[in-house]
Amino acid sequence: MMLSVEDLQIHYTTRDGVARAVDGASFVVPEGKIVGLVGESGCGKTTAVRAIMGVLSENGRRAGGRVVFKGQPIDEKNTRPLLWREIAYVPQSAMSSLDPVYTVGAQIVEVLTKRGGISRPAAKARSGELFDLVGLSERRLRDYPHQFSGGMRQRAAIAMALALNPSLLLADEPVTALDVIVQRQILDTLRTLQKRLSLSMVMVTHDISVVAYLCDEVVVMYAGQVIESGPVREVLSRPRHPYTMGLRNAFPDLLSDAMELVPIHGSPPDLREPPAGCRFAPRCPFVQPGCTSGTIPAAVRDGHLSACLRDSEADALRTAALDPATWQRSSNFAMS
Ligand SMILES: Nc1ncnc2c1ncn2[C@@H]1O[C@H](COP(=O)(O)OP(=O)(O)O)[C@@H](O)[C@H]1O
Ligand code: SF4
Ligand SMILES: [Mg+2]
Repeated sequence: MMLSVEDLQIHYTTRDGVARAVDGASFVVPEGKIVGLVGESGCGKTTAVRAIMGVLSENGRRAGGRVVFKGQPIDEKNTRPLLWREIAYVPQSAMSSLDPVYTVGAQIVEVLTKRGGISRPAAKARSGELFDLVGLSERRLRDYPHQFSGGMRQRAAIAMALALNPSLLLADEPVTALDVIVQRQILDTLRTLQKRLSLSMVMVTHDISVVAYLCDEVVVMYAGQVIESGPVREVLSRPRHPYTMGLRNAFPDLLSDAMELVPIHGSPPDLREPPAGCRFAPRCPFVQPGCTSGTIPAAVRDGHLSACLRDSEADALRTAALDPATWQRSSNFAMS
């Protein structure tokens, strides 16, 4: 196993209390696979990947759980030597990995020389190779980030992340805010790179259609917890958790626009005071009295995990979830 995240708990201390941004999340990244970490904004995805690398913000700390990389437990004390060389990160905004005052080439050379201990001439040659790898022309190495389009900046950020041949790439919303054509081109590039370099990858996205397009496995996060996970084909064709059913209705397919989009009303809870019981209950069309207290058990069948009290009725709920009326705010679809 390339990476295993076990019962991870990440707390942020704020003036108004402790936000449990990741609250008992477990998932694995098998070698050579692309795992999609998906959920709406505020569900703890960025926190989870930053915690894996041991680079949380000042007020964040790991309050529990383990992260195991290639068989070794890692935490903020021992990840530093692994960064770039073993685990690389494409941050949520490509602009935040590129400095506006240096040429893109100079920044890649800097990573190669400073982090990789490579000589300048070798670094220059390598940066050309890297640009070629991500589909950018070598002569664009002399340009500044503002001379790049959004898609090109993402490609440059990916090139930089790959500079020292990592085995695990963590990409945080790398195609968000790009138009669909460019999204697809970049996802295709990531897929090609993954195969060519036998990378393992975590693709963080709020867009389940990106997962459908690119990923092998999916981990659905809601309010700091993993509520469903498993092989992409299985989970997206037969989701068992109502949140995943809702997400599937809420995003356009990257390959067709035939479907009517149905939003999930409301937003994820404040993680300083999450609701008791199932955290999705305030928005779930299938909520029942038992859902709002206690612990919701997760059931795993054939590697497909779901944490919903009504798991035994998943087939019926899935059919009901296809009807847009189910998701109207007023309907309280308490099937029995
Ligand atoms: N530095 C921080 N201090 C306090 N709370 C934070 C901080 N960073 C993120 N959070 C909170 O943690 C939760 C998860 O955020 P984040 O990991 O960014 O989610 P996502 O990437 O899924 O949008 C949110 O409720 C967010 O407000
Ligand atoms: S049916 Fe209950 S447990 Fe399942 S997602 Fe809805 S509120 Fe949560
Ligand atoms: Mg994020």
